[in-house]
Amino acid sequence: MSKKFYITTPIYYVNARPHIGHAYTTIACDTIARRQRLMGFDTYFLTGTDEHGQKIERAAQAAGKTPQQLTNEVSAEFRSLWDRMGLTYDDFIRTTSDKHKQGVQALWRRIRDNGYIYKGSYTGQYCVFDELYVDVVGPGAPCPECGRPTETVKEENYFFKLSAFQDKLLELYTSQPDFIRPETRRNEVMSFVRSGLRDLSVSRSTLSWGIPVPDDPKHVIYVWWDALANYITALGYGSADTAKYDKYWPADVQMIGKEIVRFHCVYWPAFLMAAGLPLPQRIMAHGWLLFEESKMSKSRGNIVRTETILDVLGSDALRYFLLREIVFGQDGSFSFDALVQRYNADLANGLGNLTSRTLTMITRYFKGEVPYPSRAATLTGQEHAVADAARQTITEFNSLFDQCQFSRALEVAWSLVGAVDKYIVETQPWALGEKQDDESRSRLATILYTSAEALRIVTALAHPVIPEATAKIWGQLGLGDIRKFPLSDLQWGQLKLGTRLGEVQSVFPRADKSTIERMQQMEEQGRSATEAAEEKTIEEAKTKKVVAAPAAPANAPAPAAIVPDGKISIEDFAKVELRVGQVKVAEKVKGTDKLLRLEVDLGTEVRQVVAGIAEAYAPETLVGRKVVIVVNLAPRKLRGLESNGMIVAASPEGGKPVLASFLEDVPVGTRLK
Ligand code: ME8
Ligand code: MG
Repeated sequence: MSKKFYITTPIYYVNARPHIGHAYTTIACDTIARRQRLMGFDTYFLTGTDEHGQKIERAAQAAGKTPQQLTNEVSAEFRSLWDRMGLTYDDFIRTTSDKHKQGVQALWRRIRDNGYIYKGSYTGQYCVFDELYVDVVGPGAPCPECGRPTETVKEENYFFKLSAFQDKLLELYTSQPDFIRPETRRNEVMSFVRSGLRDLSVSRSTLSWGIPVPDDPKHVIYVWWDALANYITALGYGSADTAKYDKYWPADVQMIGKEIVRFHCVYWPAFLMAAGLPLPQRIMAHGWLLFEESKMSKSRGNIVRTETILDVLGSDALRYFLLREIVFGQDGSFSFDALVQRYNADLANGLGNLTSRTLTMITRYFKGEVPYPSRAATLTGQEHAVADAARQTITEFNSLFDQCQFSRALEVAWSLVGAVDKYIVETQPWALGEKQDDESRSRLATILYTSAEALRIVTALAHPVIPEATAKIWGQLGLGDIRKFPLSDLQWGQLKLGTRLGEVQSVFPRADKSTIERMQQMEEQGRSATEAAEEKTIEEAKTKKVVAAPAAPANAPAPAAIVPDGKISIEDFAKVELRVGQVKVAEKVKGTDKLLRLEVDLGTEVRQVVAGIAEAYAPETLVGRKVVIVVNLAPRKLRGLESNGMIVAASPEGGKPVLASFLEDVPVGTRLK
């Protein structure tokens, strides 16, 4: 029986539409899963969506939908995007599924019966954005993780005895040093745990969008408990059919982004220990994908949609770029320029060119059949060098890839591409192709065989990373279905003499400046289209609420007003939508003295606004402050950041701006008129 391999992605929150940050993790896992399958492992690859909790409940409210509607829609979006990209997940778990709910409750009962859950009362601060209880004091105190204001929670609820696991966790990190990768994350976790663990509140009684606590349905289970359990409930833990759980658990690799390390490396193993269940082999935390230097996220409005890249350059280009360009574990930047540059250099001019060159010459000079040197004497030091380089590439690539050093692994594989290119330039097969004598023919056969064999090796190694293109190249090499190739057997010299090539076609058409412009344009349009759709649902939600109020028909012609020179009519003024907002986040825009980036809560949504007030206000003094925002100003970009609205201030001649504010308290979202 073959060895098993179980790999998981985080399950993604459905309050945001999928973007390439989510694609990044899922692509990395897909690549590993594909490779493990080819290596002969019985592989199971899990992904899915995280659908409960306060954050989702509020996002649904803001969009005027029920939580179930919102989760159905966004979960389907994730899934169809993964399908469109050809990601080979074996299961897509949804935390609103019955199977999951049953499993979560089973885990609860087991941990409760083992004596690790008790009832107590909690008073403290909660960050809804992170769905995290935090150690700060006072209403509105900023969350130490994300800086957003926290909310005071005062409830009777259930606690998990996390404090009982401090020593056991430290022992785990020490005895299994690979449990947390990379090392920097392991060190952070160890010092966090050493500093002391408090018991964890694991239920909420003021929230209904969650899984009920067994035998006490007034409470719902804490969303992170619910979410983490997906890794076993998806396999049938707690259900009648535990065959997959028995076979695949514990996971071999659990891939996550670095911001959720604590949940996966502290809470998750503690839950499993409390339940007496086996622990995963490894939690692998990667860095953040940044866009123009800040983390891509919905609230910042700097998201890149995967669809744009798929439409223009295809999924292989994105996969290759993400794994080659970013050192796995560290933060990395995304930009369309860098994407196109990498694509052209490594794929179009690199692998693509080597393929068409080699295969075209075999077609032309040997009628499309892989030739073989007729005399061993035609093998020179040059051929031995290529063969040695290829053998070494296989060994190094495998070892780097197994350590998730994708970028280095691809670099090594592509240096073989470079070596073969150089070999072809030096040996000039096209010159030999003009000659008909035996010696030239034999030498030509040797060169083209050597090139094709090296091409085959790079293609096989790169297959898990760029599956579509390599499947085509494999077909052009006349080798059939690459997904059936046993990668663990890969060796120099397996290309058979006389193999009939398939039809030679370009796999990576070259991109240029217009490719970049096209993608940028699609992003602008795509983004405003998504935003328009979101605004529309919010508008609809608002009109539903005021449906009883008498209103003029929307399409009634505006009354013609007679307006003296230099004045505007009340209708003109009414076009400007001014509303009360509350600053949630304020920070300096890197590289400028004047600009602050603000996240302003408008009651129905949080907007990013970039304002030139940095010289007048320190960012921390603005958090919590109520301000006036021009809500319906067309968005514009400042320093690459989208500013979606304008903050109203008095601007004294030659002095610093002074923000408009209120003496009396006024609810967020109120319109000024
Ligand atoms: O945290 N760069 O869900 P989430 C790199 N539901 N990776 C990114 C990224 C970026 N800019 N943005 C997102 C949650 N990711 C919880 C997880 S698991 C039991 C529950 C990826 O929707 C990365 O893997 O906020 C990150 O950890 C994950 O998406 C967070 O997705
Ligand atoms: Mg997140």
